[in-house]
Amino acid sequence: MENFKVYNPTKLHFGKDVVSKSGKILSSFGHRVLLIYGRGSVKKNGIYQTVISELKSSGCEIFEYGGIKSNPVFEDVDAAAALARESKVDVIIALGGGSVIDTAKMVALTACVTHSSWDFFTHKKEVKKALPLMCILTLAATGTEMNPYAVIQNDVTHEKRSYGHPLIFPKHSFLDPAFTLSVPYDYTAYGICDVIAHALEAYFGKGRADLTDNIIIEIVKETMHKGKLLLSNLQNYDLRADIMLAATLALNGTTTYGKSYGDWGVHSIGHVLSSLYDIPHGASLSIAYPAWLRLHKEKLSDKILFLGEKLMNAANVEETIEKLEQFFRTIKCPVSLNEIPQKTRKSEVLQQLQRQKVNGYYHKITDNDYVTLADLMYAGHIN
Ligand code: NZQ
Ligand code: ZN
Repeated sequence: MENFKVYNPTKLHFGKDVVSKSGKILSSFGHRVLLIYGRGSVKKNGIYQTVISELKSSGCEIFEYGGIKSNPVFEDVDAAAALARESKVDVIIALGGGSVIDTAKMVALTACVTHSSWDFFTHKKEVKKALPLMCILTLAATGTEMNPYAVIQNDVTHEKRSYGHPLIFPKHSFLDPAFTLSVPYDYTAYGICDVIAHALEAYFGKGRADLTDNIIIEIVKETMHKGKLLLSNLQNYDLRADIMLAATLALNGTTTYGKSYGDWGVHSIGHVLSSLYDIPHGASLSIAYPAWLRLHKEKLSDKILFLGEKLMNAANVEETIEKLEQFFRTIKCPVSLNEIPQKTRKSEVLQQLQRQKVNGYYHKITDNDYVTLADLMYAGHIN
């Protein structure tokens, strides 16, 4: 087992109506707040009004930055940070899914400096301080509500990078499963793929930690089982709650105890696909995961087989990969770049994989592997 440290200061408030009495907590770090949200879902489903009422009843002065896109960009972080500085806000509140929360995390850092947020991602600048951040989650997928990471895209350089710092742990995160009832089928399914991928990135990390592996397998099992049920009953509160809990657990640190942070090779491949073609994050992973498993299947045969036996009654490595691929297909997620609506080019994908030296922390992808990987992501194996 690898050595590990545990630190997670986020206070999580989980359950029905947790937001309706949150005003005091939301304003506990100051009354000038910057509220960040996405492209309209929170106004359509009424969550925006609930939050505004809570903040106003606690005497907050609210500044707003809306319009964050899925696969968020650093330009929005910089513009929202400028607004935070001009308005002298005390606290940042994120209202949305992973894209909004990740933007808000970087705003919390960038509001304290005058340079671009991208300088943190390139490590040109170091973090010294941050504004406090509160999160109200509306989509179960990323785990960002209880971790210290933010993932932001640079459309100029076609890069999507991850940044981690203890100062961007949210102070409080509010998770009401009812807030996710309006998430449409496609993003619910992409979220399910993301949760599975987070658990598996940890599973393929360095080190033997049997108990952690068993926790991971239970998270994947729960997510596959309840995820399928949820997709045929999107209005079911209990199933939304089950997936929300699984999503937080899959990336709040628990799954990497003794596993040296996990591998993350599949995510780095997925980030290339999203930054090139704006593919939703979960869909980039349902394409990348089967390809990555096939690339490494000889080296990882024991681990893949254990997974197949525990999760899907598979008799061998290839059957395990096929069954995972089949699961993604059943929930209508793409498993090949040929299946997405965007016009893609294999040569372009290959060039970016090579240029960005895409890799995992543990299972290395060599220069020769990139061609195989690109081929596998276009192949699609089940007819
Ligand atoms: O923009 P709006 O109108 O709000 O619509 C969003 C968006 O179109 C919609 N949505 C969110 N909540 C909704 C809703 N629609 C109806 N009802 C609701 N309650 O869903 C769409 C997708 O939202 P987004 O925030 O992009 O999805 P997700 O939560 O999957 O976040 C994806 C981002 O998180 C990053 C990904 O790379 C991607 O950029 N990740 C962040 C991680 C982290 N910080 O730890 C780890 C992950 O691996 C991931 O990389
Ligand atoms: Zn992810």
